[in-house]
Amino acid sequence: MIEIRGLTKRYGEFEALKGIDLDVAPGEFLVVLGPSGAGKSTLLRCINRLTEPTQGDIRIDGQLVKPQGADLRALRRQVAMIFQHYNVVPRLSVLKNVLTGRLGSMPGPASWLQVFPRRDIGIARECLRRVELEDKAELRTDTLSGGQKQRVGIARALAQQPKIILADEPVASLDPKTSRTVLNYLKQASRELGITVVCNLHQIEYAREFGERIVGVSGGRIVFEGGPGALSDEVLHRIYPGLDQGEGRISPAADAAAPPPLQSFALEEA
Ligand SMILES: Nc1ncnc2c1ncn2[C@@H]1O[C@H](COP(=O)(O)OP(=O)(O)OP(=O)(O)O)[C@@H](O)[C@H]1O
Ligand SMILES: [Mg+2]
Repeated sequence: MIEIRGLTKRYGEFEALKGIDLDVAPGEFLVVLGPSGAGKSTLLRCINRLTEPTQGDIRIDGQLVKPQGADLRALRRQVAMIFQHYNVVPRLSVLKNVLTGRLGSMPGPASWLQVFPRRDIGIARECLRRVELEDKAELRTDTLSGGQKQRVGIARALAQQPKIILADEPVASLDPKTSRTVLNYLKQASRELGITVVCNLHQIEYAREFGERIVGVSGGRIVFEGGPGALSDEVLHRIYPGLDQGEGRISPAADAAAPPPLQSFALEEA
């Protein structure tokens, strides 16, 4: 579904991605694991062309992605995004937020006026049902908890009926219990609908629990590729150079490159 060859991205002199080759199979739930600054977001942003690669080719469903025009619009319809900070519109209802996932498929005038055909409303409600928020459809989105907002983010991505969902640290702002709930909804939707998911995470525990396959990124390179069972101490050390062997602890000198410990996560609303 996604074929990446020789992808590099430079910001001025700085090389954020240093020649990435990666294939993602249809329907796969791939976790990209790596420390802060590894290049995880840059990789996702290159896939849907929010960032223009410096070099390399990306094919989506066999099609070489070109940077402009109709091609780019077609790409954006096929590839949905889920963000760390949800990117919901607070004053709009939950249902309207999910309906914005339909805008790319609607004819111009209807989308400008935000007049949603009955069919689209049906699709949006069905997506809300998948994340068990159908009873919140009419509420303003700013009345929801963080975990619920991210479930709206998932429903909006599903409403786009994409082939691919790119999720950039979707649970980085959530407590562990809520994080697992949200990742479960995402994984279940991917499995039931056959959507290919690439999910950036920096938490090793979640990568182990949810990744069907894991790609470890460090310093702009892929340093590991394998199943969750293959995430040995040696591999983790390769991905997180400051990690103490066996302990799963981070040495102080490596804090900048290390994943934050789970207990340091801010709890979103009680
Ligand atoms: N627009 C930009 N201009 C300059 N440098 C950038 C830009 N975006 C990213 N970088 C640099 O590229 C590197 C990779 O950044 P990226 O955001 O992809 O990392 P990440 O793995 O997503 O990190 P995090 O876990 O903190 O989100 C970092 O060193 C970052 O500072
Ligand atoms: Mg990032």
